[in-house]
Amino acid sequence: MSLAAPDADLLARIERRLGPRGFTTDAQDMAPWLTDWRGRIRGSAAALLSPADVDQVADVVRIAAEARVAIVPQGGNSSMVAGATPPADGNALLLSLRRMRAIRSVSPLDNVVVAEAGVILSDLHDAVAGAGRRFPLSLAAKGSATVGGLISTNAGGTQVLRFGPMRSLVLGIEAVLPDGSRFDGLSALRKDNRGYDLRQLLAGAEGTLGIVTAASLRLVAAIGQRAVAWVGLASPADALALLRRLEEATGEAVESFEIVPADGLDLVLRHIERARQPLAGRHAWNVLIEAVAPAGAADPTEAIGQALGDAIEAGVVEDGVVAANEAQADALWLLREEMSEAERIDGMAAKHDVSVPVSAMPAFMASARTEVEQAFPGVRVLAFGHLGDGNVHFNVRPPVGVEGRPWLETQGEAVSRLVHDLTVAAGGSISAEHGIGQMKRAELERLGPASRLAALRSIKRAFDPLSLFNPGKLVALAPNSGVP
Ligand code: MLT
Ligand code: ZN
Repeated sequence: MSLAAPDADLLARIERRLGPRGFTTDAQDMAPWLTDWRGRIRGSAAALLSPADVDQVADVVRIAAEARVAIVPQGGNSSMVAGATPPADGNALLLSLRRMRAIRSVSPLDNVVVAEAGVILSDLHDAVAGAGRRFPLSLAAKGSATVGGLISTNAGGTQVLRFGPMRSLVLGIEAVLPDGSRFDGLSALRKDNRGYDLRQLLAGAEGTLGIVTAASLRLVAAIGQRAVAWVGLASPADALALLRRLEEATGEAVESFEIVPADGLDLVLRHIERARQPLAGRHAWNVLIEAVAPAGAADPTEAIGQALGDAIEAGVVEDGVVAANEAQADALWLLREEMSEAERIDGMAAKHDVSVPVSAMPAFMASARTEVEQAFPGVRVLAFGHLGDGNVHFNVRPPVGVEGRPWLETQGEAVSRLVHDLTVAAGGSISAEHGIGQMKRAELERLGPASRLAALRSIKRAFDPLSLFNPGKLVALAPNSGVP
């Protein structure tokens, strides 16, 4: 059951089918796509394929499948877990969806957009804004992340609080399956109860079950007014109490509630040139809040301002500012969105993406920090992110003065095991929104449980018995067998 290397004949057939714009083996053209975003994992590929439409995808998959050659699908290549980085053996074909970037239709009446897999998230935002609608998912990598990648990783981001992760916005999917057949499931039905939901199986499958080529996505009313605020407070527990206060004061208006510790904000202010101090003083914790209302509904600014004033009086909040205009709102968002980039510039870190029940997160953040700092003296925990979803990026940086890469190589695994053990003990997940990819596969195997892994493997086997799609990611066909 081993995977083959493509021979010259096979590559020539694929090149003929895709034409010169859709095929390259040039090392320089391929280089940027062979490593993950944080530069931790290097892969190799026999060729980079860039089909222009779903027919080309299906034909290429069929040609490769006949020869038992693996395919690694790739969107914007901003995976946090090297989910789109090909294996190092160089036998796989890297298949980029980036040329497929048509918005096929926008239907304001259905509240649906049909977008091809290569559409970049910020372009999708712009396209539906033209029709008076909004696609309510956003994340820091919106300038490069693509629709296909967002679906395949079931991406989260900063609006999950109200609208859920990517899978909750997917109404239909078009995909090519590992034998080259097509799944034509684009029809955007709000209700469809014909058994197993194939769209939901493909969402979050990390390209291991099918290659998503297009999707029907849910839209909501465009934003009429938004209130963006930055507050300083003493603890994650106070932050959570504030979230519930804001919800009581504004109904469903709060869409984003993102926590940033003082040392996280310091990093952004140090490394990101445009970043400006949001409040006069330094606070142990900060929260970015966005509340929105559609045109015609009451502006949430007043309600947020009032609720924050009450929270200051109640001692829940230490200080806060509500953006007075869009430029100020963007400046506050920059402080949150550049958090990962600032951390990356600062050096290597053991990154984690954990979730626990929302109410348990403040205590988890405190106790896990203590345990990690005791077990690895000198390390610096930086936990930030989606507190309202019970999901933080519980990152661990090396002690001051210790070089990141060697530290990560010697200590990273042990640090991650401890963080993940603590997460599982708290009833949580070791991947809240980034997926498993290559980087968390061993941990998924280690932490199981076995019944869950067996079910995942059965699904993989049913779709892709030869493991031709994205080998080495998510789950192995058979445990400890060397079969990808
Ligand atoms: C974020 O919340 O900023 C992203 O998930 C990226 C990260 O974890 O670094
Ligand atoms: Zn995140």
